[in-house]
Amino acid sequence: MLPPILQNLRIPVVASPMFIVSGPELVIAQCKAGIVGSFPALNAREKDGEPPLLEAWLTRIAEELDRHNQANPDRPAAPFAVNQIVHRSNARLERDIEICHRHKVPIWITSLGARVEVNAAAHDCGGIALHDIIDNRFAKKAIEKGADGLIAVAAGAGGHAGPQSPFALVQEIRDWFDGPLLLSGAIATGRAVLAAQVMGADLAYIGSPFIATDEANAQPEYKRMICDSSAMDIVTSSLFTGVSGNYLAPSIRAAGLDPDALASADASSMNFGAGGAKAKAWSQIWGSGQGIGAVREILPAAERIDRLAAEYDRAKAEMARL
Ligand SMILES: Cc1cc2nc3c(=O)[nH]c(=O)nc-3n(C[C@H](O)[C@H](O)[C@H](O)COP(=O)(O)O)c2cc1C
Repeated sequence: MLPPILQNLRIPVVASPMFIVSGPELVIAQCKAGIVGSFPALNAREKDGEPPLLEAWLTRIAEELDRHNQANPDRPAAPFAVNQIVHRSNARLERDIEICHRHKVPIWITSLGARVEVNAAAHDCGGIALHDIIDNRFAKKAIEKGADGLIAVAAGAGGHAGPQSPFALVQEIRDWFDGPLLLSGAIATGRAVLAAQVMGADLAYIGSPFIATDEANAQPEYKRMICDSSAMDIVTSSLFTGVSGNYLAPSIRAAGLDPDALASADASSMNFGAGGAKAKAWSQIWGSGQGIGAVREILPAAERIDRLAAEYDRAKAEMARL
């Protein structure tokens, strides 16, 4: 049984948080169109001495969704989620948790570390905590530490993808866990959303297709490259962040590197602190999952979600005839 907050979505989809790309415009559009929208807390970066931008973003999202709900009581907005990078290099974590707790963020998504106190803060303000994992061992640890649900990040996902097939990952988790399970990795059509459910997941977790939307905070060239590329153009490398991730090969070539001959880097080089020379050096290396063959146009997020919903309904009707 899904927690009430994840029930009654227009389609069973959570839009994943994306570094730089996801901000309030995209989140508001996603929620208004009926799916959970999300952003990484670290995307809200104020200049030194200014008040926390995260605070302003949370206020704006709550107010705009509230206005939408008052004007559209028959199709209320879906709830939103905030992603916390639970890594020792994230010096803002405590502050961001305090802000999210005070604003009663309804869905907390944690990555790169499961911590009891983050889950406790989510529960204390009435929220739920979903933790992203790449294998069954991390999945068990996350639930032991108090997460309510899991995001299984399978092979082919954008960002820090896992190495495992979604079939293997979902099957191993469903062997012992009957709570909320989201599946991530190259899901880009309504049919694939239904496939995730058939496999045993409750909801699909979708990122890369939302890069090619009007509301995404991405350069026009990045959006275009998503539309012009397909699975063959995605390369896996640890060079850019210290952990294995998926990237668009044309952006690596444009930066003067050979995508077929990238050195590897070790996990100790992961750094989620403010900026840094390395972060700047790699800012033109663009992340993406393998599902983007299905993405051909830059659209308003609402239109992308309308298409997903229509495809999902069609796929369901087709499957009912099997
Ligand atoms: C450009 C980009 C940035 C990402 N940044 C984050 C992030 O900051 N935090 C996080 O938890 N996941 C991040 N992800 C991973 C997503 O949460 C999710 O697992 C992934 O987008 C799903 O695969 P898909 O892109 O193939 O749909 C990122 C993904 C992309 C493509």
